Order: sequence, then C-alpha cells, then structure tokens
Amino acid sequence: MTENKSDKLWGGRFELDTDALTDQYNASISFDKRLYREDIAGSKAHAIMLAKQNIISPEDRDLIVNGLVEIEQEITQGTFIFSPEREDIHLNIEAALTERIGEAGGRLHTARSRNDQVATDIRLFVRDACDSVITSLRTLRSVLLNLAEEEAATVMPGYTHLQRAQPILFSHHLQAYEAMFARDTERFVQTRSRTNQSPLGTGALAGVSYAVDRASSADLLGFDGIIENSIDAVSDRDFIFDFHSASALSMIHISRLAEELILWASAEFGFLNLDERFSTGSSIMPQKKNPDLAELARGKSARTIGNMVQIMTLLKGQPLAYNKDMQEDKESLFDSVDTVVDTLNIMVAMLPSCSFNREHMKTAAEANFALATDYADYLTKKNVPFREAHSAVGSMVSFCERENKTLAELTLEELKNIHPEFDEGALEITIEYSLNARAATGGTAPQTVENARKAAQTRLNEEAAQE
Ligand code: ARG
Repeated sequence: MTENKSDKLWGGRFELDTDALTDQYNASISFDKRLYREDIAGSKAHAIMLAKQNIISPEDRDLIVNGLVEIEQEITQGTFIFSPEREDIHLNIEAALTERIGEAGGRLHTARSRNDQVATDIRLFVRDACDSVITSLRTLRSVLLNLAEEEAATVMPGYTHLQRAQPILFSHHLQAYEAMFARDTERFVQTRSRTNQSPLGTGALAGVSYAVDRASSADLLGFDGIIENSIDAVSDRDFIFDFHSASALSMIHISRLAEELILWASAEFGFLNLDERFSTGSSIMPQKKNPDLAELARGKSARTIGNMVQIMTLLKGQPLAYNKDMQEDKESLFDSVDTVVDTLNIMVAMLPSCSFNREHMKTAAEANFALATDYADYLTKKNVPFREAHSAVGSMVSFCERENKTLAELTLEELKNIHPEFDEGALEITIEYSLNARAATGGTAPQTVENARKAAQTRLNEEAAQE
C-alpha cells in the first residue's frame, strides 16, 4: 500500500503538507467540536446501515461502534485532544478512530462524504435546538398566563403612539405577548419538521455507488424521512435560515416586552418594581437600580437579526452543490441558539419576580381623559352619529383642560351643555364601566379576558400533551 506524503486524511494526491496559515484559516474544529455527539450518532447509524447492507462486515461495524462510544466518552470527559491539523470534527473523530481500531476505521467513510456527513450533523443539532427553544417558549407562555391570572384585576392605561389611549386590563396586555410566543412556538415546530429529514447516504453530491439503505440510517437517527435529491441533500441550508428567522422574530417579541419592562421600571412610569435579584446597581450613583437584564435581552435581539442576515448572505451566491462557504453556517447558528435559549430562560426567571404598582397603574389609567371614547360611545348609543359624538367629547376635553377638571368631575349640567343627549347615566362612566363595555370577542372586559386566558391555557396544555 502506498503511503500519504501529506499528513491529511484526504492527502493521497498531495505531495506537500499544507501551509500552517492554511491549516489555521481552513480549520473549523475550534467551533464545530460542538457537533461531536451528532457526528458520532451519524457515524454509528451509517456503520450499522453499511453492515446491514453487507457493505462492511459485522466485526468491523462492532469495532467502529465501540470505538466511537469510547471517543464520545473521552470528549464528554474533556480528555480527548482535538487537533487543528485535522481540520474539523469529522476528521478529528475519524482519525482518532483509525488510530484506535486500525483498518476498520478506514472503512467507516465508505459510501459517505463529509458533505452528507456535515449536513446530517447540523440537522440533528438544529432539531435538538428547536426542541430546547420550544420547551423554553412554552415555559415562558405559562409564566405569562400565570402572571395574567395573578394580575387579573389590575388595570393599566393602554397606549397608542405611547400616549395613554384607553384603559385596559394588565392581563389582556400580558396575554397579547402570550399570543406572540404561541406563534413563535408554531414557527419552531414547523422548522423542526423541515429540518428532520436525512441527507445521509447521498455522498459528495451525486449519490453513492453502493446499495445503501438511506431509510434505515434515517430511522436510526430519528429522522422523519429522507431528502430525496442528493444535490439538494448536501447543499440545502434553508432549515438554518428557518431557525434564524424564527429566532430573530422571537427575540424581536422579547425585545418589545423588555422595552416595556424598562419603561415601566422608570420613575416616569413607575408601574414596576424590579426584584433585586434581577437588577444591578451603578458604580457611581448609589441610588440606582437598573433593568440591565431587560436591556440585554433587548440588545441581544440584534445578534439574532444579524445572524439571520449572515446566513441569507452566505447562501445567496453559492452554486450547487457543497462549497466551503458553508462552514461559515455554524458559529452564527450556535450564537443564535444560545442567545434565544438564555434570553427565554432569563425572562422565565425574571417575570414572576416583578412586582407591579397596581394603585399607580390604575391612577394612570384614569388620568388624561382615558375614558373620552366611552363618553362618545355613550352618545352614539343614544343615536347620535359617532362623528358628532366624537367632536362633542373633543370640546368637552378642551373645556376640562381650560377649567382644570377631569371628565368625571363634570356636572350633569355641564355635560348637557356639551351635548343635550347626556343624562344621569353618563355620570356612571368609570374605569370598570369602560372595561366591562368591551365584552365583544378579543376585548378587554374582565370576563372576555379570563375566557381568552383559559383558552390559551388549554391550547398550551394540549400542545405539551401532544409531545
Ligand atoms: N468542515 C466542513 C464544513 O463545516 C465539513 C465539510 C467539508 N467538506 C468538504 N468537501 N471539504 O462544512
């Protein structure tokens, strides 16, 4: 047998060793070692399939599988030595296996290429990442629904243009976030299903010249099926984009929530007292209690958006099939997985620790003529055209501003001066009146919000039970 002159597993046709700079620039082991479990699982399934199809012997299969089990233990224990000269996780493991078991190790790569191998690894990784994110999203939804139940009687001003608009139940506001995270969960469930298809056994790009059974290795790895076209199998990274896009949108939702927590914790709003365990102080201003975690959550959304743009840009110019550009798909993916999971978990821990200034929120809900719409609706229900009612209440607001009065302080006489259709009933317009009036589907009436919360809880329980 002829010896490799090069020190590389792929070095048969090479006369020279690679330059040290090449090794450094080319290697991905510093980050793709994170895929070691997936790589070993993929190799085991491949070896078992090869033996089943009589492509390798059962003895070689056992040597390979046992060798891989040992290597996995060493990596997990931190005793395995990774080498940058061996480029990536695939070659590091394969070379270590061959050092251990000899010739049998050299048979593992039969009917396989690193191109279908890396595509398999990364799909397994994204599949598990989807599961982690889905679990954390469901936990966050349950935290939001519990908080909504606890705060079922808390009123706050609802805003448009960040101007006080109409009174709402705080629980209604929280449930709006639950609805966003429910859609996010759906996106990750869909991403998982598109991800969970096996590329293994398609070789470099054209398929392999052995009688492989792709369905059986797919089955061993828990894939739902196989990717039919070999070229698509090795070159598709759409599922990574799907993951980034679902992550970026979830982080945008978290960022909106974080922004509200930051505003509410300010003296200007004064709705929220942050728990000391989830805030930090200032090194110069002794009085400060800062909402750093919410700010970081808002800030970290930028990474996931950036990572999504990175994968789009990475893919757009690549001809079929595999190109080394694809090695650049991993670090941003790992970053987004960690960012989303960590941020969801911070929100899960922080939200239940928040205490809300219910009295102050209610006062804010009553101020600034927040019930103006209810006065206009009152007239409309007496058959006054809405536009006329709107204009009458508009002049009522400016009258109150001039007289330095609230709407509730107006006498019946003053009301009648503004519009003759006002009567005693208009003196009963309060926050409770305003909330109860909004009982149509989706509105902020207490009973409607409670029904919506229960329905959301049932959906969440059903989703979790289907797993
Ligand atoms: N480290 C490579 C990657 O991450 C593995 C695949 C290499 N394939 C190849 N033909 N050079 O994409």
